[in-house]
Amino acid sequence: MERTLAILKPDCVGAKKAGKVLARIEEAGFRVVAMKMVRLNAETAGQFYAVHKERPFYGELVEFMASDRCIPVVLEKENAVADFRTLIGATDPAEADEGTIRKEFATSKAFNIVHGSDSPENAKIEINFFFSEKELVETA
Ligand code: CMP
Repeated sequence: MERTLAILKPDCVGAKKAGKVLARIEEAGFRVVAMKMVRLNAETAGQFYAVHKERPFYGELVEFMASDRCIPVVLEKENAVADFRTLIGATDPAEADEGTIRKEFATSKAFNIVHGSDSPENAKIEINFFFSEKELVETA
């Protein structure tokens, strides 16, 4: 069974949309393997998004991710990485398909509600960023 990392971002948690977004994720067939509330700071948000360090939006992205609480969630499902990216939709909600989470909840490319790993390899790295092995529970 494949795993992916989702992050309910500060715009999601701050606007009290975490329950609604998580319900959409569960209804789509994903099982929660681990979940926690975290408050990133500039250093930890910068580390998580280090791959985007040279991008013009990096500073804004780091500031946003440190602006309020985040909820990282490890999800499990067949084809979890690709299926989760389909469920959330394009980075820019204006380009996201109808029925996707970003189309419904996100307000811009920067404030886009949720993160999803872009490959199984990166999913492992991102899961390890937030969770220890013993925090990943067995799903029935
Ligand atoms: P995410 O899937 O978390 O991965 C990288 C994030 O960078 C992305 O979602 C957006 O939140 C952010 N991002 C990507 N492109 C832009 C952009 N042009 N302007 C601002 N933020 C962006």
